[in-house]
Amino acid sequence: MGRVKAAILGATGMVGQIYVELLADNPWFEISAVTGRSNVGKTLEDAYMGKGNVPAMYKSLEVLPSDPAKIDADIVFSCLPTSAAREIEPKFAQAGFPVISDASAHRAWHDVPLIVPEINPEHLNLIEVQKKNRGWDGFIVTTPNCTTVGFVMPLKALMDRYGIKYANLVSMQAVSGAGYNGVPSMAILGNIIPYINGEEEKVVEEPKKILGRLKDGKVIPADILIDATCTRAPTIVGHLEVIQVELMEDAGIDDVKDTLSSFSGLPQMLELPSAPKKPIHVFNEPDRPQPRLDVDFGDVKGMVVTIGRIRKSNKPRNYTFISLSHNLIRGAAGTAILTAELLIATRRLNS
Ligand SMILES: NC(=O)c1ccc[n+]([C@@H]2O[C@H](COP(=O)([O-])OP(=O)(O)OC[C@H]3O[C@@H](n4cnc5c(N)ncnc54)[C@H](OP(=O)(O)O)[C@@H]3O)[C@@H](O)[C@H]2O)c1
Repeated sequence: MGRVKAAILGATGMVGQIYVELLADNPWFEISAVTGRSNVGKTLEDAYMGKGNVPAMYKSLEVLPSDPAKIDADIVFSCLPTSAAREIEPKFAQAGFPVISDASAHRAWHDVPLIVPEINPEHLNLIEVQKKNRGWDGFIVTTPNCTTVGFVMPLKALMDRYGIKYANLVSMQAVSGAGYNGVPSMAILGNIIPYINGEEEKVVEEPKKILGRLKDGKVIPADILIDATCTRAPTIVGHLEVIQVELMEDAGIDDVKDTLSSFSGLPQMLELPSAPKKPIHVFNEPDRPQPRLDVDFGDVKGMVVTIGRIRKSNKPRNYTFISLSHNLIRGAAGTAILTAELLIATRRLNS
């Protein structure tokens, strides 16, 4: 197999730069085009936002406008802001491109798969429904909100083993989650902001779709009650989440730990390049995971969700734990690339 040509829409942003870094090291892809808005016409090296080095082979790529007619690619990764994604991604799908999007614009569409490759690979069958519904040669597949991923992975492991009635999340989200220009430094340094516009709605709804069952070309959402409180914390990368779940049955703590740490899915079975051997790691140390120490934990940087402080609550069948996930990798570019690898491995991508 030759390398798959990948375009990145929004390549000069927080998530876009992570795509460039990850794809430069990925054996299945080569970057064929990058787009932006204010940086159009510059080289990628000149457009990079004040940090990090562009991998040598991509320094001189020209930043193009996000116009399908200007792009040569087998697959398109989109990390555009939501408003731009709403308008631009359907144009690419209509022009025949497979689009994998980290933006929220189309996640809730009934015929658009919302994918965590370890959890719901069968939802990729919605692609055919979508192409038929919309008359497109291409399609859109979405990845979840960066906070949803670290929440829904442990939920999936626990749901399959015990059933879940209720889940509650309180997040402490890193500033990189808001984009390069997202949170003013004077607002966040030495502070915690107890509200993120629009975030809680996504974190409540997305897990139900991801954990839902595909039936007759539709996703039947999982029947779980969810509450969420999302806050912005002065960390740089890594969303820390306090999660409480009410299971359908009682379980011993060791059994819960085993259930979480033995979680695995199709990407592991297929040994995809971006799949960690163990997508969830459980710490026994009482003071882990920590964003600074553990955000890159494991064999594939940024792709392992780390869990700690698993405790039984005083309320029957209730358990509390901490989850940490890399918002830019597992929460965006890494999950999108793993999804693309799954599309290739399951022969859903023509190249
Ligand atoms: N940050 C995270 O942790 C995270 C996680 C999951 C999902 N997401 C989602 O990923 C997307 C990107 O987030 P980000 O944090 O990388 O944002 P960002 O740092 O603000 O980057 C935005 C990128 O989009 C380009 N852009 C902006 N407006 C555009 C337009 N109208 N047309 C074409 N390109 C445009 C920018 O190009 P120029 O620089 O050339 O102007 C830049 O490359 C958002 O939808 C976000 O919700 C982010």
